[in-house]
Amino acid sequence: MPQHDPQDILSVNPIFSREGEATQIPKYEFPESGMLPKTAYQIVHDETMLDGNARLNLATFVGTWMDDNANRLYAETYDKNMIDKDEYPQTAAIEQYCWKMLAGLWHSPDPQGTIGTSTIGSSEACMLGGLAFKRLWQHKRRAEGKSTDKPNLIMSSAVQVCWEKFCNYFDIEARLVPISEEHKCLDGYELEKYVDENTIGVVAIMGVTYTGMYEPVKQVAAKLDEIQASTGLDIPIHVDGASGAMIAPFIQPELEWDFQLERVHSISTSGHKYGLVYPGLGWVVWRERQWLPEDLIFYVSYLGGDMPTFALNFSRPGAQVVLQFYMFLRLGFEGYKKVQQTCQDVALYLSHGISEIGPFELWNDGSDIPVFAWRLKEGHTDRWTLYNLADRLRTKGWLVPAYPMPDNLGNLTVERIVVRNGLSMDLAGRLLKDIQDETAYLENLSAPMPVEQEHPGFHH
Ligand SMILES: Cc1ncc(COP(=O)(O)O)c(C=O)c1O
Repeated sequence: MPQHDPQDILSVNPIFSREGEATQIPKYEFPESGMLPKTAYQIVHDETMLDGNARLNLATFVGTWMDDNANRLYAETYDKNMIDKDEYPQTAAIEQYCWKMLAGLWHSPDPQGTIGTSTIGSSEACMLGGLAFKRLWQHKRRAEGKSTDKPNLIMSSAVQVCWEKFCNYFDIEARLVPISEEHKCLDGYELEKYVDENTIGVVAIMGVTYTGMYEPVKQVAAKLDEIQASTGLDIPIHVDGASGAMIAPFIQPELEWDFQLERVHSISTSGHKYGLVYPGLGWVVWRERQWLPEDLIFYVSYLGGDMPTFALNFSRPGAQVVLQFYMFLRLGFEGYKKVQQTCQDVALYLSHGISEIGPFELWNDGSDIPVFAWRLKEGHTDRWTLYNLADRLRTKGWLVPAYPMPDNLGNLTVERIVVRNGLSMDLAGRLLKDIQDETAYLENLSAPMPVEQEHPGFHH
């Protein structure tokens, strides 16, 4: 018998009979020695196989499908670091093309002369918008010889968690305006009770995460005009357009929510949501350069010169920025309009189909962003809940979360579907059929279902 090197023996072994695959490996301690790349690949591949199917994940707003050309560009650019502007000047230039296009799309009076940046997602973009508010307010207060101890930011109680984080991390009081059955989102109602001289700004959401509804930015701006007329307080708006800023320009062009309103200082969006790029990419743009205070900007070396940067991170992937440019060129305005319109058609088809099943009532129908939520009709049943329906759908692969609404609607449970590029009408037909079948199953049970709670993994 010839003597084999043990590594060679391993390499001729069938893959699932090898050490690593045929034995348990410790996963919480740093491995003593390595293993063959194929074995390691298989172990990691198989572990991620147990995740849900991303395309059937109707909980997320984040892109799960791009075409083959995008995938090729991704593979060609995954090694680029966005911060290395001097080394990758074209990636830096592409970043500028993109936010200038967005500034124009959102009606900045001077798209080429204003300022914006890419970020890792909407959370960072929102925080940059909030930091600009805080710094502007501090400058103004200091110039007036007044205290800067107690800044506050006004927003709906249904804000995405990034705003609560922002207020927590940067020492700002979050003034949450509760939503209710009458005021389903921040609409200016009683805003005067929340605004004072320490208010750094108001957040308006284009596409509330819980439900998909647009907050009426123009109405909120008009209310702030009234407040200014009576108190002299000039309060700016940041539009958190995580989803809606890439929907409204294309399919609701008549809506005035963007830089057409002077009070809107800044707008953020997620390139990785309806910008149609894989995670993580966000954008923030200021209406005019003056609304981003100069002392927040750092200058990095770029082609022998200086390029302004404003970011929470230093290193960050550049590939997503390249992909965004690809998508803008590939689809253009007409293409985005088609994609977003298709998503809305699918959302309306599903929401109306669900409302016709019987036990459900829509909270909204997906005619703002293509996202909608429904609840069980009051008094319909106490034998099963939307959590049970979410569980039943999960057994068929569909991830459709149920969760409680915020604050004073906390007793209300809703279930939500986010329609994204890739949920075809054909797939939606199957989903509707599964929702009908699973609802019938729950309705016909002879004993009540056990009480189910929100899945801990779901974050609004
Ligand atoms: C309204 C809103 N703002 C901010 C965010 C955070 O976005 P990201 O996940 O891109 O950080 C989300 C995410 O769903 C959102 O819906």
